[in-house]
Amino acid sequence: MGKAYALALAELPICIWPPPVMPIRSLVVDINEASAKDNAARFGFERWGVGWESAIEDPDIDAVCILTANDLHREISLAAANAGKHIICEKPLANSAGDAKDMYNAAERAGVKHQVGFNWRFAPAVQLARKLIDEGALGKIRDFRGWWLSDWATNPDIPLIWRFQKALAGSGALGDIGVHVTDAARFLVGEIAEVCGVAETYINQRPLLPSSAAQGLPGKTEDKAGYGAVDVDDSVAFMCRFDNGAHGYLQASRFNPGRKNQYGFEIYGESGSLLFDWAHMNELQYFGPDGRSDAKGFRTIIVGDAGEHPYARFFWPDPQDYGVGFTETKVLQLNDYLEAFAKNAKPQTDFYDGWRVCQIADAVLKSVEEHTWVKVDEQ
Ligand SMILES: NC(=O)c1ccc[n+]([C@@H]2O[C@H](COP(=O)([O-])OP(=O)(O)OC[C@H]3O[C@@H](n4cnc5c(N)ncnc54)[C@H](O)[C@@H]3O)[C@@H](O)[C@H]2O)c1
Repeated sequence: MGKAYALALAELPICIWPPPVMPIRSLVVDINEASAKDNAARFGFERWGVGWESAIEDPDIDAVCILTANDLHREISLAAANAGKHIICEKPLANSAGDAKDMYNAAERAGVKHQVGFNWRFAPAVQLARKLIDEGALGKIRDFRGWWLSDWATNPDIPLIWRFQKALAGSGALGDIGVHVTDAARFLVGEIAEVCGVAETYINQRPLLPSSAAQGLPGKTEDKAGYGAVDVDDSVAFMCRFDNGAHGYLQASRFNPGRKNQYGFEIYGESGSLLFDWAHMNELQYFGPDGRSDAKGFRTIIVGDAGEHPYARFFWPDPQDYGVGFTETKVLQLNDYLEAFAKNAKPQTDFYDGWRVCQIADAVLKSVEEHTWVKVDEQ
């Protein structure tokens, strides 16, 4: 994510000129001097430092981007809020809803601007989906189906990195990629009232990283020699009911051979439907009641018309549409954050959204454990 934010911060004023606030790439910190120095040079930052504390203690830093593994999000956010720094924190906001709520409360109390890194909703096609829904193009929404399918974890030789450990990651596919699908569901349909889920861990033991093996961590005596336990979900799926009565079907997996970040959703309303597939991220499929009765069917909207489509004016000249990619979703996420300063408003995805998504994740895990429906607000 360091690479993604560095790219986006550099691209932002090139594409969005003048930016709402000019970001200065001041300080990059990492766990040791060698990588911090390297990253400052590579990412185009003015200075480097060792350990996240050095950014919090630095009086010249106004805002921090927290791009560490999930277990550090809470501690760094609370320290940043106490120091009066504005905060962007990657997803999942925290490893539990309780921690996420503490972070939201601390940031609000400190009066700092806060944002969670739900960049995928800033894809112009997803923003167009929201506009069409708001304008009634689908009528009342009945069904949301969303998925994020990938296969990177099917190889059993992949070591026990932080993403496979509950203490560091909170959960597996759910907190890693399921949260983006959950964010899309909340953004496009509304708040989720209750959930019922299933989850599975397919590979229970993975080789320890050389650094962990040397410390005898985190392997336990019952683990195979040189291996440690995976204690998060490799795959998860849940049904939900939205506050507005719509139904949802959400799925996230690291074990779908051949799938590479296959993110998408389908939304069905009483009079129309929308389909989005990340592999064609500059397109949105729409079916509506209008048009000739003998030519009914889904139509493909190429999203990039500067006169019509969200954010298109920032990128390539109309009428030629060259499309946007992953980095631009980060550019637009960061632009939304900077606009919050210029307009004295809240960012579109703040810690409140991060907390609500953690509540949903906690409810899904509880539902899996108890084999029952769980109400989100009670988490
Ligand atoms: N929004 C997205 O699309 C997206 C995609 C990938 C990852 N993420 C999120 O971004 C975060 C980071 O993921 P990643 O894949 O980049 O992880 P990573 O493990 O590749 O990088 C984490 C970085 O944090 C550094 N770090 C660890 N301890 C530190 C400390 N004490 N002080 C300073 N730096 C420290 C590490 O050296 C490393 O450079 C996670 O929360 C993840 O869920 C979001």
